[in-house]
Amino acid sequence: MDKKDQILIINGSPRKSKNCSRIIGKIVLELEANNIEYQILNIYKMNIDYCTACDYCGKTGKCRIKDDMTPIYKKFDNSKGTIVVSPMYFSSISTKVKTLVDRTQAFYSSKYILKKPSLDTKKERGGMFIAIGGQPEYENQFLGGQLVMDIFFKCINTKLIQNIYMSNSDEVSYDENKDFQINFNTTLESYIKEINKK
Ligand SMILES: Cc1cc2nc3c(=O)[nH]c(=O)nc-3n(C[C@H](O)[C@H](O)[C@H](O)COP(=O)(O)O)c2cc1C
Repeated sequence: MDKKDQILIINGSPRKSKNCSRIIGKIVLELEANNIEYQILNIYKMNIDYCTACDYCGKTGKCRIKDDMTPIYKKFDNSKGTIVVSPMYFSSISTKVKTLVDRTQAFYSSKYILKKPSLDTKKERGGMFIAIGGQPEYENQFLGGQLVMDIFFKCINTKLIQNIYMSNSDEVSYDENKDFQINFNTTLESYIKEINKK
């Protein structure tokens, strides 16, 4: 189902019922409590192929590959916001999130090469990035992922309103990490407040 003005939630983990999945459970509860429509994209279950740099989008503004990414372009365009929840893999987002991000090159090409945007660039959308790292906090643990997300959210014309990171998930899970939960609840509340203004 493809509704207008819903929040897209991208589940960047292949693992069922682990940290990202539990965090998404909390997000869903809060969105429902605020009557905000949403859709979860379990991208590890989807057939989303790699960008092959064929440059078809540089000439057409669209992606040549037809797969489960094809309807997602319209979903980004119609959305009120996007929330990416990703584990850190080698201090960056997970592979499948990066695969999806690369495919949004079609938006980039349409806007900056062809100057004919294939999404509504005037529409206000709000973004949130939640990153989970298994190891205890270390310098630049989330930096790789953050840099990618900064460009990704610009690419989908979505203002990145909130970023939040959780370290040490391999030792202390989201369910056990009460300090993070408190911080996360506040961050999510602020995000929802912003979304409700849009
Ligand atoms: C391939 C791979 C690479 C990883 N690299 C990192 C890393 O660079 N830094 C880190 O803190 N955790 C790393 N981890 C641990 C995950 O971020 C951690 O297990 C996280 O909780 C996974 O999210 P999930 O529980 O929702 O699946 C890595 C895990 C895998 C499988």
